[in-house]
Amino acid sequence: MKDILSTTIVIFGGSGDLARRKLVPGLFSLYQKGRLPENTRIIGYSRSAYSDTEYRAFLRGHAEKFAKVWNAEQWAEFEPKLSYVSGVFDDDKAFDRLKIAVLAGDGNLGNCLYYMSIAPRFFTSVAQQLHEHGMVQKSDAGFKRVIVEKPFGHDLESAQQLNRDLHSYLDEDQIYRIDHYLAKETVQNIMVFRFANTIFEPLWNRNYIDHVQITAAESVDVGTRAGYYDSAGVLRDMFQNHLMQLLALTAMEPPASFEADAVRNEKAKVLQSLRPITHARLGTQTVRAQYAGYLDSEGVPADSQTPTYAALKVYIDNWRWKDVPFYLRSGKGLKTKATEIIIQFKKPPHMMFPISNDFVISSNYLAICIQPHEGIHLRFEAKVPDTDSNMESVLMDFHYSDEFGEIIMPQAYEKLLLEALEGDATLFTRSDGIEAAWAFMDPVIRGLETKYGPRMATYDKGSWGPAEADELLNRSRRKWRHGCAEHK
Ligand code: BG6
Repeated sequence: MKDILSTTIVIFGGSGDLARRKLVPGLFSLYQKGRLPENTRIIGYSRSAYSDTEYRAFLRGHAEKFAKVWNAEQWAEFEPKLSYVSGVFDDDKAFDRLKIAVLAGDGNLGNCLYYMSIAPRFFTSVAQQLHEHGMVQKSDAGFKRVIVEKPFGHDLESAQQLNRDLHSYLDEDQIYRIDHYLAKETVQNIMVFRFANTIFEPLWNRNYIDHVQITAAESVDVGTRAGYYDSAGVLRDMFQNHLMQLLALTAMEPPASFEADAVRNEKAKVLQSLRPITHARLGTQTVRAQYAGYLDSEGVPADSQTPTYAALKVYIDNWRWKDVPFYLRSGKGLKTKATEIIIQFKKPPHMMFPISNDFVISSNYLAICIQPHEGIHLRFEAKVPDTDSNMESVLMDFHYSDEFGEIIMPQAYEKLLLEALEGDATLFTRSDGIEAAWAFMDPVIRGLETKYGPRMATYDKGSWGPAEADELLNRSRRKWRHGCAEHK
């Protein structure tokens, strides 16, 4: 069916890194799959000066490299949809020009999706300009939505302030806050796995689960991003957003429906139930570390207190999870890139088999492999054939690539753009969810990013992190698992 209204996607920061590497290639992919509304136009808005022709050529160069499937003929069809307006983010006149460009389609604003791929200090002025130019007011003639990139605030107070500022110009249901982890296929599969099967959910609680581990390891170091990174650190860059979202999806109660608000209500409740890590507990529930050499990186102050690695032991104070520890860790410069969730089940309460005293039975675990080897592993005990009762831990595994063939996994931004165009906010964070995550992380960050915080550990690049992080688990006779990396 042909759309009656035109659709315009405006990318603020249209010549920036994200736009050229992810957003425009993502939109191109949607076009290739026939998922963009037919009369869609894409306007890049940035400070750099480009004519439409120059902008298209610039993006083509990047699309050849970053498109999931490059096809020159399809690009030639897609390219006329792109145009460019040059301006700064608080310039009235430039917004006049932008409005004229948006209206140039069919003389109406129609459906508008604005993507703020810009520094956070400009979020409010862009929202204000859009409002003053009558470009975001709700009407019957098409939707007006705004996607806001991260970071959303620097701490709880700034996140609350940003929410208040945006709410002066936009309703909450017009605001789509990005967390690209939510658009990863395997992250979305957590909900399907939990709530479209009956066999796991009855076990998914403190009666059967000993603890949960959530790892987001990266092998890259901070590279040329040291300037930004040192003001963020791993707690803001990865924990406050991505790890909190993975935690919420793993721990939440079954929503009554797959509607955005039903899902987001349950996620927010988990984050609101996190037991605060008080100053007195920082020493026993947290580890912070820098990789060796971080302080020598260009742009990093010699006395920087910014961790490139952290591990936290977190509790959720509700009926389902009371006293089950969730161990979260993330860092740069680690051995490999791997994001995974380990559900570690309890040991059997009684061992009836005649096994020797030194045999340690490994308890079952389930590994949800988010990336790079997307899949699910279940480890359980099996009898070794032709022995009395010798046991060995064996693996049952599912890999996306085995089951669904060599599918090209859509990149997260492609999915997010499509969801925002369709008005489905399930994969975007709501104001209360983001504030709950900050409310938990804020005191931890404040406690850890000072020279009076717990000792700053160090680790070698290419390792699995500092010994102190192993100690965090060893103290409770537990150990970190590499449930996906080891058994691909
Ligand atoms: C971003 C962080 O949000 O996530 C980066 O700012 C990090 O520092 C990236 O590298 C990791 O994302 P992914 O999808 O590669 O796991």
